[in-house]
Amino acid sequence: MALTLDVADPQSIAAAAEHVRAGTGRLDVLVNNAGIGSDFGVAGVDPDFEAIQRALDTNFFGAYRVTIALLGFLRKSAHPRIVNVSSGMGGVAEMGGWSPGYRVSKAALNAMTRILSTELKDEGFLVNSACPGFVNTDMGGPMGATKSVQDGAAGIVWLATLADDGPTGGFFRDGEPAVF
Ligand SMILES: NC(=O)c1ccc[n+]([C@@H]2O[C@H](COP(=O)([O-])OP(=O)(O)OC[C@H]3O[C@@H](n4cnc5c(N)ncnc54)[C@H](OP(=O)(O)O)[C@@H]3O)[C@@H](O)[C@H]2O)c1
Repeated sequence: MALTLDVADPQSIAAAAEHVRAGTGRLDVLVNNAGIGSDFGVAGVDPDFEAIQRALDTNFFGAYRVTIALLGFLRKSAHPRIVNVSSGMGGVAEMGGWSPGYRVSKAALNAMTRILSTELKDEGFLVNSACPGFVNTDMGGPMGATKSVQDGAAGIVWLATLADDGPTGGFFRDGEPAVF
């Protein structure tokens, strides 16, 4: 089943959840991949607050709202998995300058990973963040990324299909720990 979803629009999320309810009523894997780079290269000392808001609306609130809207269906799965597609640019420990909206939105997404993984651990959920690396997509291509989409997706598919004894609450790139 494929459906239209604008993660920045709560009404669209509610409609998508209704489609799932009317369909299988169960979800095994949620990959929060939708993301925008609304302020790449913009200086933190000269911020575009509207662009920061747009980044948060899609990259953080979008993923969070979708997750909560679909949580009941994931709870019906015997092996629920959530993968939040984040970015090394959201790692707080090695946070650099520029692109404040994108960076903060991905840092917040990583925090959401930690919060939900903790609260849902006893229910068998595995919730992790993944950085795909610098991938040649519509986002990365114009900036010179050469990593293939297949290679970027591999680490996400790995987290989406973890065995029950797999990690939760982690941040990974290409199957290896990344810096939160
Ligand atoms: N490419 C990289 O080097 C790189 C590095 C680190 C992290 N990431 C992350 O990887 C993820 C995928 O990015 P990408 O490289 O594939 O970028 P992309 O080529 O620009 O694709 C972004 C995807 O997000 C969707 N999207 C954007 N806003 C949305 C919304 N409001 N509702 C639903 N879907 C929405 C787009 O759908 P439409 O096409 O329909 O608009 C598109 O499918 C993002 O979260 C990004 O931050 C990418």
